[in-house]
Amino acid sequence: MDLDKLKTTAGLDVHGKRVLVRADLNVPVREGRVTDATRLERLAPGILDLAGRGARVVVISHFGRPKAASDPEFTLKPVASKLAGLLNTPVAFVEDCIGPRARAAVNALAPGQIAVLENLRFHAGEEKNDPAFAKELAALGDIYVDDAFSSAHRAHASTEGVTHFLPSYAGPLMMEEIEALRSALDRPDPPTAAIVGGAKVSTKIPVLMNLVAKVDKLIIAGGMANTFYLAQGVEIGRSMAEPDFRETALDVMKAAKAKSCEVVLPPDAVVAKALEAGVPTKVVPILEVPPDSMVLDVGPKSVEHFTDVITRCRTLLWNGPLGAFETPPFGEGTFALAREAARLTKARRLVSIAGGGDTVAALNDAGVADQLSYVSTAGGAFLEWLEGRELPGVAALTRG
Ligand code: 3PG
Repeated sequence: MDLDKLKTTAGLDVHGKRVLVRADLNVPVREGRVTDATRLERLAPGILDLAGRGARVVVISHFGRPKAASDPEFTLKPVASKLAGLLNTPVAFVEDCIGPRARAAVNALAPGQIAVLENLRFHAGEEKNDPAFAKELAALGDIYVDDAFSSAHRAHASTEGVTHFLPSYAGPLMMEEIEALRSALDRPDPPTAAIVGGAKVSTKIPVLMNLVAKVDKLIIAGGMANTFYLAQGVEIGRSMAEPDFRETALDVMKAAKAKSCEVVLPPDAVVAKALEAGVPTKVVPILEVPPDSMVLDVGPKSVEHFTDVITRCRTLLWNGPLGAFETPPFGEGTFALAREAARLTKARRLVSIAGGGDTVAALNDAGVADQLSYVSTAGGAFLEWLEGRELPGVAALTRG
């Protein structure tokens, strides 16, 4: 995949053209209300740009994982109305994404007008990447713009199939996300560090293996660090760990050594007898975790040590929290390091790129999500990129 082959619509005359925009409108909705509009806010400028250039903008997206063909719980209607509010312009909502209703609504759009079509996953052809379904979608546009990096790890009809039928372009958010990841992984300002946190080693083996070949310092924290300690014979009490992955942890350490990547583990921990809000806690060196306790966060020495490591680096990639951040007070380690990363970024001493669902939630809780250099809107796609995998939705745009 040659990323330099990605084309945008910049300079293209889109006036009067039907532009089929694959967006990721998969946002949290509770009782018919969008509870986090970040993805929509990041998408809005691209849509407004096309509409401002006189395009007839047709927005398509999946929403959740519906089992039935038309489940009201998974309608995009409330998301479309939130989008209209953010765009400050009317948005037509169309109750199907293919067929006569969709065609009529799209044909009725005047230049500069916008429509959002109903959830793509109400049709089985979407996830099956059925060429007939892709062709029906393609019939609604003159060109296709994919602005859904966060869905690009899915080889679905709206992300891959449709590119076989229409001239295809990358949208501005797609470009921004790819540029951020490339700036951290392919052409970083060295030295580089990565923080990989989260509960399980088993879900992040390919990420760790790919990163040891790319970064100078690999900070491993969260529940995953317990498995690394266990592999080295350290007693970690009742902490969550994956004994079956001890060998894997040692393999990661070996691979890191071979690539001259330093693996950095937390030297201390916040422990408690239960993962419950407000339980009594203790800070202990990692070699002194009591047998009846579990590690639930990194301790202050770890934050200090990690801060020292990132202070000596110019580029930081962050995926995964350092502790059980959703249960107070076990988010303190993550929040403290996030504030340090934000401070270094602000002082222009660090380029910081973060992504992955939990990571963004933790950065939001720390109040610094807007103070890093780039925060991705992607979860699974971000992770797959970190694994070094080719994302089908991106590869499809580079076919030329
Ligand atoms: C996401 O939220 O990560 C994307 O919208 C992809 O959703 P999916 O995992 O249901 O394909």
